[in-house]
This record gives sequence, C-alpha cells and structure tokens, in this order.
Amino acid sequence: MKEQKNSFSSRLGFILAAAGSAVGLGNIWRFPYLAAKYGGGTFLLVYLILAVTFGFSLMLTEIAIGRKTGRSPLSAFTSLNKKFSFLGILCSIVPVVIFPYYCVIGGWVIKYFFVYATGRGAQAVEDTFFTGFISGAAEPLFWLFLFIAGTALIVMLGVQKGIENASKVLMPILVILSVGIAAYVVTRPGALEGLIYYIKPDLSGFSANCVLAAMGQLFYSMSLAMGIMITYGSYMPKTENIEASVRSIELFDTGIAFISGMIIVPSVFIFSGGDESVLSSGPSLMFITLPKVFGSMRAGGLLGVVFFVLVLFAALTSAISLMETVVSIVQEKCGLKRRIACILVFAYALLMAVPSSLGFGVLSWVAPLGLSILDFFDFISNSVLMPLVALFTCIFVGYVIKPKTVADEVKVSAPFRSEKLYTLLIKYIAPVLILLILISSVANTFGWISL
Ligand code: PHE
Repeated sequence: MKEQKNSFSSRLGFILAAAGSAVGLGNIWRFPYLAAKYGGGTFLLVYLILAVTFGFSLMLTEIAIGRKTGRSPLSAFTSLNKKFSFLGILCSIVPVVIFPYYCVIGGWVIKYFFVYATGRGAQAVEDTFFTGFISGAAEPLFWLFLFIAGTALIVMLGVQKGIENASKVLMPILVILSVGIAAYVVTRPGALEGLIYYIKPDLSGFSANCVLAAMGQLFYSMSLAMGIMITYGSYMPKTENIEASVRSIELFDTGIAFISGMIIVPSVFIFSGGDESVLSSGPSLMFITLPKVFGSMRAGGLLGVVFFVLVLFAALTSAISLMETVVSIVQEKCGLKRRIACILVFAYALLMAVPSSLGFGVLSWVAPLGLSILDFFDFISNSVLMPLVALFTCIFVGYVIKPKTVADEVKVSAPFRSEKLYTLLIKYIAPVLILLILISSVANTFGWISL
C-alpha cells in the first residue's frame, strides 16, 4: 500500500482537526467553573480579550513554524536554528507525558457513557460509585485499553483518511449535541438564575487571579506548547490562510467552552437551589456532581447518555492530536512507516497509562510531591513544561528568528492583517504573561495561592 500523503485536504479539514484538539475536557470541566468563580461575565470578557490577542499569537506562531518547516516538533526548531534543538526536545516531551494519562480519563468517560447507555445512571449517583470504580484494577484498565485502541485506529488511518475524516464527523455532532443539551438545560424551571450568574458581569470577581486563571485555562484549552499545532501546521497546505484559520479555531474553542458553561452552571444551580459552592471542576464535577444533577432531572438518564457522548467526542479528538504528534516524532526520528510507529506508540501509551490508572488503587502509596501518579504527570506537563516551552518559543521567535520569519510564512498565502499586534505580543507581552502563568501554576499546585 502506498503511504498516504501527509496533508489535510482542505481548510475546513484542518480547522476541524485543530478545533478537535482544542475542544477537550478542559472546555467542559474547567471553563464553566472558572467563569462562575471569577465573576461570570467578567471572566468571560477577560478570557475573550486574551483569546484574540495572547492565544491568537501563540497559536499562529506554532502553526506557522509547523508549516514553514514541515517537520515534527522535535526537529522544527532545530531546522530554524541549531542552538534551539533543546526546545524541540522539551516540546516533544509534553505530548509524550500527557498522552498516556489523558487516555486514563478517556477510559473513565467511556465507562460513564456505558453506564448511562445501559440505563444504570441511577447507580452513578451513589457517593462511592466513582471512587469505587477508579480504585479498582481490571475495570479501569479495560476501559483505558478501549480508549487507546480507538484513538490508535483512527491515527493509523493517516492524516486525511483518519484524523480529517474523523474530525469532520465528530466535530459537527459535538456542536449539535452541546447546543441541544444547553437549550434543554436553560429552559428548565430554575435555570435562569444560574444562567444569569454565569453571564452577568460581577466586577468584584475581577482580580489578578482572575486574569491568571483565564490565561492558564486559555493556554491549555488551545492545545498550545505541546507540539500539536506545530504537527498539524506541518500538514497544512501552503495555499491556506493561517490567520483566518486561527481565528476560526479560536472561535470554535471559545464557543464550545461558553456553551459548556450554559450547560453546567444552570444545571448545577437547579440541582442545588442556587448554592454555587456545589460547583467544582475536574473529575469531581464530571463524575460525581453531574451524575447527581442528572439523577435529579426527569430526563436525566437520557441527558447522561447524550452528555457523555459529547465528552467522549471531545476527549477522543484531543487524544488523536496527542497521539498524532507523538507518532510524527517517532516516525521522523526512527524513519518508520506510520503503521509501525502507531503500534509502538500504542504499546508505550498502554504501558505508561497503567501506573497512572492504578495510582488511584493498588499504587496509591506512590505519591510523588504528595500527588497521585496521574496528577503528578499532569503537574509536570501542564504547570512546568508547557509554560517553559511557550516562554522559550516566544524568546525564539521574538529575538532569534524574529517575528518577521513567522509573518513571512503567514504571508505566503494571504496578507497578515494583525502583524503589528502580533509582533508586539510575541516580543513583549506574551513572555511576561507566560512567566506569570508558570509562577502562579506552580504556586497553585503547592497551595500557596488558590486559583
Ligand atoms: N485542549 C484540550 C482541552 O481543552 C486539552 C488537551 C490536552 C488537548 C492535551 C490535547 C492534548 O481539554
């Protein structure tokens, strides 16, 4: 069989694949919580402003570097300047660390989908259901295996046949489901109060922490500093408009995050009778609070099924982008065929995901820095490596290869309308903001501050 050409077939295909990466668990389980915590509309506004400036410049940079070099993140930086090969290595470590544990959570999502789909949603309301499940051994491993296998199957099919086609099916369904669920939730009695709480700007929520939290969230949500956008950029045809594509991906990502908030904040409000302290983020929101919320609604069983399909699609397209990035690195480094590289990465991910999964049960005694194994990997990648990679990327572009190199790549296909803003951001503003993210996310993990 001839190896398929590594390129997206159209701009839409590229946008949907990159948006698929960006729209993930973070949009659903963290964005709504942060918005509610930091003054509703106030946070939304801060987030939006940061997305179209800070997020925009970073994403544009990565896609342009990918397209210019046509390389995997491992060698993309080196090919522009030999002294920066360390950045390629640092950047490649991120998806290698994240992919396995992301699949553990993907496995939990399939499990919950299965529970609801078989009409057993009522069981998930029990307090011990979630902890009982994740502290087991064989069951979480089984779901984990299923999730990685599904991801690997799509990646193995290649950029166009696998990733692009899957995104073209999954992303539109994801939009329809999220809009549908949001419409259902906001029309329930008592939802209005929650909706107002979510959207109305409360100026007292504005603080330095609000800006920091928005920035950290944005960064993760747009799949930045993990080599993904470099990889996808390297598959982008030279004829496509980078700037317009980044604007679309941004809109997609922020739009879905906003709609998730319209699902989560009002439904938790209806359930709690307006007590916002019930709202949390992360696994406890998704696997403990929301099942209780669904359990209290008349159509809760059905809502559970549809909701977990939505989450599953969001997680799957993100996992695909992670695996593709790792596969592209392995293929390039070892000169392997896609299929062989996929099998190797699949085996690696499975092996590495096992300790993360068992860390909530038999391996719970392993607690580096006082964290579970999964949270430890999450900390290293999200709070340490990613801000470092982003910081060095800004320095690299701003002062080594110069913003003009990126701008020239953007201009290969279309005029670069925000060039001035871009140069200003990448040289001066973004590095400072990223340094603040780095300091605050480390401080947050150790409980010195609370974001
Ligand atoms: N951007 C994704 C989200 O918001 C997160 C992600 C993490 C995507 C790792 C790809 C890889 O959830």
